[in-house]
Amino acid sequence: MQINGPPIAVIGATGQVARALVRVARESGLTLAAAGRPDADLGGGNSVHTFLERTAPRVVINAAAYTAVDKAETDSDAAFQINAHGPGVLAAWCAERGVPLIHISTDYVFDGSKRTPYVEDDACNPLGVYGRSKLAGEDAVRAALDRHIIVRTAWVYGPDGNNFLKTMLRVGAEREVVRVVADQTGTPTAAADIAAALVAIASQVAQAQNPPVWGTYHLVAEGETTWHGFAAEIFSAAAAQGLKTPKLEAITTADYPTPAARPANSVLDTTKLRKTFGIVLPAWQKSTAGCVRELAGLSANKGTP
Ligand SMILES: NC(=O)c1ccc[n+]([C@@H]2O[C@H](COP(=O)([O-])OP(=O)(O)OC[C@H]3O[C@@H](n4cnc5c(N)ncnc54)[C@H](OP(=O)(O)O)[C@@H]3O)[C@@H](O)[C@H]2O)c1
Repeated sequence: MQINGPPIAVIGATGQVARALVRVARESGLTLAAAGRPDADLGGGNSVHTFLERTAPRVVINAAAYTAVDKAETDSDAAFQINAHGPGVLAAWCAERGVPLIHISTDYVFDGSKRTPYVEDDACNPLGVYGRSKLAGEDAVRAALDRHIIVRTAWVYGPDGNNFLKTMLRVGAEREVVRVVADQTGTPTAAADIAAALVAIASQVAQAQNPPVWGTYHLVAEGETTWHGFAAEIFSAAAAQGLKTPKLEAITTADYPTPAARPANSVLDTTKLRKTFGIVLPAWQKSTAGCVRELAGLSANKGTP
């Protein structure tokens, strides 16, 4: 996937999706400039502006966010600054310079009361501060910039950072029994798959003269499961790699109270993404197994069990 000319600018450098974007770019010979804090800080100041002026990108991808869902409940100002105000400032710069913006949002903008997969136009009703701040970010981007693509993704995991898959591998190695919530349904989505899709979208957006594609899309892996189902798949893949695995037990959300409420159903319908961009992500089970293999290989190379 090659985009000639000016680079893609990525806001965020240390996050799961940002790191995966850097990897995809390296593998595909794509020019990409990624900056995180302090060089592009969505928390205020001029650094984002300075970074973008210096980079003069063809497309901007915002992969940075305040993602601590529970902490956000008591840290609302920071969550809204980074997830709403910052993206608004970013979108305003893009509007001034005529640069498209691809902004990442979340399944947690929905309340989970729908019984079937959510489509892009379904009413949003976030249950917590994180979801509300991300929804405010979507609105800020829409208000400032016509040439935007907002992609809502979900349950992100990968080899970098903190995520459910890595937590399961760690606690699975330490404990005899692991209990996981079985009444929240969604779609685990690999950072690498998101990154590959974002690059494909960026390529189409940058190459088309006047693409009728601006708007909001759902970008998740194929299929759906619960956190318990995700854990079962992780442990099955871990066992196939010869790793120690625990007994897995199903619990309910009520058994595992968290500061922030989560939607019971946040499965996202991806038909619009497929019809517009021709993009379909792999089945979540396939990428889960691939990530477990990758992490098992990494720790084997380091000599750790
Ligand atoms: N993780 C999920 O399960 C999930 C689910 C649905 C949607 N999403 C969305 O997907 C996107 C990518 O998520 P991710 O999982 O890759 O996130 P992540 O691994 O938690 O990384 C977040 C990144 O944002 C950066 N960041 C935080 N505050 C910043 C600021 N003030 N200025 C600039 N950068 C800042 C962090 O940098 P530092 O290292 O400096 O903190 C980090 O690089 C986000 O929009 C998120 O809302 C994620």
